[in-house]
Amino acid sequence: MIHFPRRALAQDLVTALQGKGLLGDAHNGLFLAAPRRTGKSTFLQADLQPALEQDGAVVVYVDLWADQRRDPGDLIAEAIGRTLIQQLGPVAKAARASGLENVTIAGVLKIDTSKIGKMDGATLTEALRALHQSAKAPVALIIDEAQHALTSEAGEAAMTALKSARDQLNRPGDIHLMLIMSGSDRDKLLRLVNTNGAPFYGSQIQRMPELGPDFIAHVVQLIEQQHPDLQPVDSAALATAFASFGHRPQFFMAAVGQALNPLADLQTRFEPAVLEAAHQRQAQDEAQMESEYLGLKPLEQAVLWRLLEQGQRFRPYDAEALRFYADKTGQPVTPPKAQNALESLRQRTPALVWKSARSEYAVDDAAMHRWFALRTQHGTWPPEEPQHPLPFDPGQF
Ligand SMILES: Nc1ncnc2c1ncn2[C@@H]1O[C@H](COP(=O)(O)OP(=O)(O)OP(=O)(O)O)[C@@H](O)[C@H]1O
Ligand SMILES: [Mg+2]
Repeated sequence: MIHFPRRALAQDLVTALQGKGLLGDAHNGLFLAAPRRTGKSTFLQADLQPALEQDGAVVVYVDLWADQRRDPGDLIAEAIGRTLIQQLGPVAKAARASGLENVTIAGVLKIDTSKIGKMDGATLTEALRALHQSAKAPVALIIDEAQHALTSEAGEAAMTALKSARDQLNRPGDIHLMLIMSGSDRDKLLRLVNTNGAPFYGSQIQRMPELGPDFIAHVVQLIEQQHPDLQPVDSAALATAFASFGHRPQFFMAAVGQALNPLADLQTRFEPAVLEAAHQRQAQDEAQMESEYLGLKPLEQAVLWRLLEQGQRFRPYDAEALRFYADKTGQPVTPPKAQNALESLRQRTPALVWKSARSEYAVDDAAMHRWFALRTQHGTWPPEEPQHPLPFDPGQF
């Protein structure tokens, strides 16, 4: 698998995070959203992290989806603790080996690295301050799938603690803590920033740019190197296919690999085969959502429909919502009934609905919004069961 490096984008973000960009607010926290499988985690780890390190920062990376059974708050605290131990190196190891719980940093801070984030342990702010002081460098904390923090109270508390750490450690022009949060769903990330009570109220969510023409040019160059007989490769066709694959490199590269496979007995050019694979993928994704929708009970369908239609404005039990459900199902719907339907949408595997610790709801897979919008636009919403052929009526003859 090739990796296409995105150095320029990484460098731009590093500048913005340090508050050195003239405009923008990234020094207060950088919130990046991009759809699933478009390369967020790869970019954060393979491009942004090295760029930050190159610039002298100590980087903590944590993926809140790494283990969904663990509390997001614990995962964040542990990741900071791990980096802190690495930084403290021999001092910490010796202290731990001799049973000493506390490690003194720079002669000022005492910290028990096993208790960071716990109620009786060092607060996240202290831990981050300790990390900053022991590394003598700014700290960059990258939280991948950050929206997941909002699904537990401890996770939410960790976010509030990070906000407070940021405010304590940073001064204009003197940034000691950089926060980078990413997620696959803008709607969910918005809950971190959009209300007065949200931990990062005032910050903006940015769309992480998708891989674009330079990625395609890179792939084209590789193909032309390996298959000189295929020159010139039709890069416009590959760019169109990549867009149809939803800018997801994994599916795109798999299709390219398949089309170039010496065993694939290709009589014509390979580009149309890649385009065809992209269209099939799109059709498959839509068929999958359709069959999931059709497999739901009528009330579940109505609730999901309402959620898709209302987005952030969704209120599951207000009078208008109940009227909507009743209208779609042809039966009166009480709040407990609607609640059951919502719960079962959430408990399914894969889950169709996401819920925060404050009972805010969103569709689990943001790709559903696009599917809903397209179908509404084409007048094909809601999906319907395929028509069965009429039963044979012998009386007709
Ligand atoms: N710059 C790149 N060059 C080549 N391939 C890439 C690049 N970025 C991502 N990919 C490939 O795309 C796939 C998805 O990448 P990644 O896991 O980073 O995406 P993601 O947006 O974090 O996905 P998820 O929503 O599942 O967390 C991986 O197979 C990865 O190898
Ligand atoms: Mg990821």
